[in-house]
Amino acid sequence: MEPAIRIENLTKIFYKNKVFKKEETRAVVDLSLEVQPGEVFGFLGPNGAGKSTTIKVLMRILFPTSGKAWILGREISDPEARRSVGFLPENPYFYDYLTAEEFLWLNGRLYGLGGDNLKTRINYLLDFVGLQDHAKTRLRKFSKGMLQRIGLAQALINDPELVILDEPTSGLDPLGRRMVLDLIRKLKEQGKTVFFSTHILPDVEAVSDSVAIIIQGKLRKTGKLSELLETSDRYRVRFMKVADEKILKRIEHIANTTVQHSEDVYMAEVSARSLYNVIDLIRLGKGRLLTVEPHRRTLEELFLEEVEVMERTTEEQETVETQVETSVETEEPVEQQQKQEEDVQS
Ligand SMILES: Nc1ncnc2c1ncn2[C@@H]1O[C@H](COP(=O)(O)OP(=O)(O)OP(=O)(O)O)[C@@H](O)[C@H]1O
Ligand SMILES: [Mg+2]
Repeated sequence: MEPAIRIENLTKIFYKNKVFKKEETRAVVDLSLEVQPGEVFGFLGPNGAGKSTTIKVLMRILFPTSGKAWILGREISDPEARRSVGFLPENPYFYDYLTAEEFLWLNGRLYGLGGDNLKTRINYLLDFVGLQDHAKTRLRKFSKGMLQRIGLAQALINDPELVILDEPTSGLDPLGRRMVLDLIRKLKEQGKTVFFSTHILPDVEAVSDSVAIIIQGKLRKTGKLSELLETSDRYRVRFMKVADEKILKRIEHIANTTVQHSEDVYMAEVSARSLYNVIDLIRLGKGRLLTVEPHRRTLEELFLEEVEVMERTTEEQETVETQVETSVETEEPVEQQQKQEEDVQS
C-alpha cells in the first residue's frame, strides 16, 4: 500500500541574507521517512529540532531547499495532495469573536462544504471533541484546552484521511492532554492516519504505533515503537554473589551498572558484547547465574541516548573546527614546524 506520507532527502535551510546566502540555519537536513496508512506516527524531537519546519513543508507553507515529499501518493507541489488532509498548526490563530459553531462553519465553507451536510458535520465534531455545550460560546472565552480541541475539530471538518497535528498536546494540563490523546486514538479507530509532532515522550508512548526521532534537523531513529524499544544491545544479568571480591570488581568494571539487590543477589546491566565475558566471570567466581534477559529500553532512554550522541558529535565537530582555526591562525613558517617535528622525534 502507498505510504500516507513519504519524505525523501528533505532539506530546509533558512538564510538570513538570501542574496549572499549568509548565516544559515539548517532546520531540516536530508530527512527521509515514511508514514504508513492507518498508523499513529509520533514525530519526536526537542525544541528547534525541525518538526514544525518539516510539517510546514508538507503543508506547503514553506518550500523545501531540496528533496521531495508525497502525501497520499501525490507530490506536495500538487494542491490535490492536501485535499484529504486535516491540519492543526502549532500556534493556530482563532478569530476569537466567532462562536465555536461559526468558526467551524467558516472552515467548512473554505472546503466548499455547506448546507445541512456541514451542519451535521459541525454537530458531530463538537460532540466528538466534547464541546457540544459550547457551540454558541465565543472563542474568546475558551480556555487553552478548549481552543486546542476546537482546533482539532477544525482540522477534521473535511473528514480527512490523514491528520497532521503540530504539538497537539503542548501547553495542556494532564486532563486536556488525555482528552487530545483519546481523540487521536479514536481517529485511528476510524481508520485515519495521524502524524503528530511533540517533545512529550509519554504522549508518544501512549498513542504511537511508529515514531521518528529528529534532532538538529536530522533523523536519528525511525520505526515501529515496539521494535525500537526491543532492539536493545543490553542485557540484565542476575546472579548470586561470587565469592571472590576481585572477580566481582571485574564484573562491576565491565558492566554499565551493577546493583546489589540483597546481600547475595546482584544485577548487572551489560552490553551484548560483554555478556559472555560476564557469565564466564560469574562461573569463575563460583557464583550462580539466576537470569539473563534482554533489557527493554524506555522511549526516554532511547531519546536521551540519541540526544547525547548528537551533542557529543557536535562538540567533537566544534573542537575539530576550532583546532583547524587555531592552527590556521598560528601557522608557523615551514622550517620552524619541521624543526619542532624533529625535536619531537629526537
Ligand atoms: N522562518 C524561519 N526563519 C529562520 N529560522 C527558522 C524559521 N523557522 C524555524 N527556524 C529555525 O529552524 C530550526 C527548526 O525550527 P522548528 O520550528 O522547525 O523546530 P521545532 O522542532 O518545531 O521546535 P519546537 O519544539 O520548539 O516547536 C530552529 O533553529 C529555528 O530557529
Ligand atoms: Mg514546532
